[in-house]
Amino acid sequence: MWVYLNDRIVQAERARISVFDRGFLYGDGLFETVRIHDGRPVWLDRHLERLARSCRQIRLPLPEKQWPVIFQKVIDKNRVDDALIRLTVSRGPGTPQTRESATPAAGAGAILRSAQDRLQSTTTIVLFPRPLPHVTPSQRRKGVKLALATGRRPSPRSYPAQAKTLNYLHNLLAKREAEERGAFEGLMLTTGGHVAECSMSNLFFIRDKTLYTPSLACGVLPGITRGVVLKVAPTLGLQTREGRYRPEVLYEADECFLTSSGLGILPVHTIDGRSFPKQTARSWVAVLQTRYEHLLRAQSRSCRGRSL
Ligand SMILES: Cc1ncc(COP(=O)(O)O)c(C=O)c1O
Repeated sequence: MWVYLNDRIVQAERARISVFDRGFLYGDGLFETVRIHDGRPVWLDRHLERLARSCRQIRLPLPEKQWPVIFQKVIDKNRVDDALIRLTVSRGPGTPQTRESATPAAGAGAILRSAQDRLQSTTTIVLFPRPLPHVTPSQRRKGVKLALATGRRPSPRSYPAQAKTLNYLHNLLAKREAEERGAFEGLMLTTGGHVAECSMSNLFFIRDKTLYTPSLACGVLPGITRGVVLKVAPTLGLQTREGRYRPEVLYEADECFLTSSGLGILPVHTIDGRSFPKQTARSWVAVLQTRYEHLLRAQSRSCRGRSL
């Protein structure tokens, strides 16, 4: 595998970052996972907009780069066709103290500081390809199982929820817990007990021709696929609502599904054993899936990932 690392394309075994990298030390950085379809990045402009917004939120200066060119280089070098590319941006090597706030160093401290200063606080940028998540044809048609996570989604008041930061441990724990319980994804609630999102995807449900999804105020990630679905649903005859919903409201839905760049649109079959009996092969989810696949192909053809 070939990896892009700070302006160079190197073999994965030769890609090295500093042990002082703040992404590694503190999760001080961001990432994006971009869908590659037919050898082209899809909705790349939207991912880059989210990255730029997230950078402003955590005050990380994003270097100017020819991002589409870099993505294409990684795609071509690795000969990927249908996959994901993960872009990671960290604040780079450094210590908890900024240069400005640090007191003048002396003795052993000075030696340490000058060693770290030599590493310079330059942003670390890494891109590499990853396979799409494994979904069976039956899961794609009939849906997957969810398990309610015991951990809650951190409050947006204490955490930059709308930034896709490297602090991903709570998502990983929810995913692992779900898998241990035989489920595909963990459903996370807000600290107030409302439905938020899944460990690695956004959640939607449908009732009586209305499409519901938790609002961004619930601390959910503004998913790129979520945005596409919200835009396309009214053109198919669905009303859309974003709000705060108790799990009991979700359990009463006709249909339920997940969205992410890797999964696309994936129906939910059951949540902790509760099923959605009205979800059939001719359901709204199937209609949305067909429309999404069409848009995906159109986007990859237009290559630059322009807006809908
Ligand atoms: C927590 C979380 N929510 C939602 C999503 C979906 O976002 P997108 O559609 O941009 O892939 C992801 C994607 O990885 C995620 O990790």
